[in-house]
Amino acid sequence: MNSGNEIVFLNGSFLRREEAAVPALDRGFMFADGVYEVLRSYRGSLFEQAAHIERLRRSLREIRIGQGAADGIEEIIPGLLERNGLAESEALVYIQITRGAAPRTHQFPVPETTPTVYAHAVPFDPPFEQRDRGIPVILVPDTRWKRCDIKSIALLPNILARQMAEDAGAGESIFIRDGMVTEGSSSTFCAVFSGTVVTHPESNVVLSGITKRVVFDLCTRTGIPVAERPFREDELTRAAEMMLLSTTREVMPIISVDGMEVGDGTPGQLTRKIQAAFSEVIRSV
Ligand code: PDD
Repeated sequence: MNSGNEIVFLNGSFLRREEAAVPALDRGFMFADGVYEVLRSYRGSLFEQAAHIERLRRSLREIRIGQGAADGIEEIIPGLLERNGLAESEALVYIQITRGAAPRTHQFPVPETTPTVYAHAVPFDPPFEQRDRGIPVILVPDTRWKRCDIKSIALLPNILARQMAEDAGAGESIFIRDGMVTEGSSSTFCAVFSGTVVTHPESNVVLSGITKRVVFDLCTRTGIPVAERPFREDELTRAAEMMLLSTTREVMPIISVDGMEVGDGTPGQLTRKIQAAFSEVIRSV
């Protein structure tokens, strides 16, 4: 696909990306006053679309942007895939809704302000090699706010954390809040303790991961024990395996934490089993 011909969606129209512009006073630009979603399309089929749209609607509700902003999103996505020649291939779909453009005041603008709705679909190259070999991660302080359950476009702490991982030659940063392990900078974190796959419970300090929900259902159906309970950073030394879960990374093995090998420093057996089961789900999408 020629990226020069990329077609995006903005406020009711499909446009060439170069033509898509938002006013400087858009509250997304001024305040990061908006929410977003990222979903995968496998050969033209959207994975867990309903769950992503539901989470988008929840994020809108939590920041008090009217639900009408998300109406019709389901119809826009196939249009984007089609227009970008992605109806048969792997693609990543991004949706962002902000509170719209208005004179800059901290409080909400007048109710007539129309939210800005943007979406794009781009070709996606899955990280096959990393998924095969696993990735190193580092632990970083969780400097985020206390509403990480909202998929806010205000991602500065996540971006800084991810760059720290890059600088350290790692693939992801895992946040530590008050001694507890929360999640990755853009992924759900899981550790395997005594054969049980454990992740932080749903709460205000983590995003409710859709990949996690799919994987945990899959584990439950295939007899792999799972648990959602808080765990401390110092418990990590007892974890036999670790993995990340996300829309883009799917099931990603972790092979070291802050330079210390996890298990024997290669992807764990349970992680491999879950990867295989997840690939099976994807194949049938
Ligand atoms: N990130 N936690 C955080 C902080 C995330 O940003 C994400 C997703 C996840 C995993 O959620 P899901 O399984 O629904 O993708 C957990 C997306 C992919 C992103 O920001 O690009």
